[in-house]
Amino acid sequence: QDRTSVSDIWTRYENGETLTMLTAYDAPIATQVDAGGVDMILVGDSAADNHLGHDDTLPLTMEEALSNTAAVDRAAEDAMVVGDMPFLSYGASMEESVENAGRFMKEAGADAVKLETAPHGETTIEIIDRLTELGIPTMGHIGFTPQRMHQIGGPYIQGRGQTSSAAVDELVETAERLEEAGVFTIVLETVTEEVGKRVTEAVDVPTIGIGAGRYVDGQVLVITDMLGLGGEAFKLSKQYADLDSEIRGAVEDYVDDVKEGEFPAEENTYEPLDEETDN
Ligand code: KIV
Ligand code: NA
Repeated sequence: QDRTSVSDIWTRYENGETLTMLTAYDAPIATQVDAGGVDMILVGDSAADNHLGHDDTLPLTMEEALSNTAAVDRAAEDAMVVGDMPFLSYGASMEESVENAGRFMKEAGADAVKLETAPHGETTIEIIDRLTELGIPTMGHIGFTPQRMHQIGGPYIQGRGQTSSAAVDELVETAERLEEAGVFTIVLETVTEEVGKRVTEAVDVPTIGIGAGRYVDGQVLVITDMLGLGGEAFKLSKQYADLDSEIRGAVEDYVDDVKEGEFPAEENTYEPLDEETDN
């Protein structure tokens, strides 16, 4: 397979290209995301809320994540496929963490995995160190980390009103520790633009921002937010399409057509086989 590799990401970063990533959870969307030219497709644990109807990312199981990742793997030809490790699929023990990361690569065809790290999150830094030593390309994720939502108390903007505080230094130090542990990129979620800039200047691996402002090395958005699928998106996003309206309109047209006898039309019906034709 000839998909985007870690070294391709590095080459693009070193050439000053801004990196792009979008999430996808299934094959048809992944096909379009891939063909549209992103560098990376993240099979996010945001599938829990954006695809499976949960309120947050925590309920996603390993089996669901692997199934989504395998679907995206079958569809993606060019973009790197990153499997997002679900809540508590890593962290309980080194053994289980390595095993689960390995399943993304071996069973689901992922090219890399992503793990969230809390400020000074020594446990995940050690796990990431092990994963990269073993040859599993790993993407970091700091700032707002949705899997710790109940710990943090909500989706707060990291660094707001505390730009020069210990909390920001802690974020920068965590990014530096992740770099040492061998991550090939770091997602930086919902931080002030100032913090995004500080972290980006502090490390020599590409930072991929979501709600992290303009001074980062790449951007990622949740696909359903940018497509206008499943309701209103957050301020950090930009809506590039209105799929909710498109889909609703199509369904209403179908219902009307069927009720009014307009569908199926003659062209949609099958004739019995006869001597002349054999279809
Ligand atoms: O799961 C997800 O969609 C993510 C992105 C927000 C980076 O982790
Ligand atoms: Na995620």
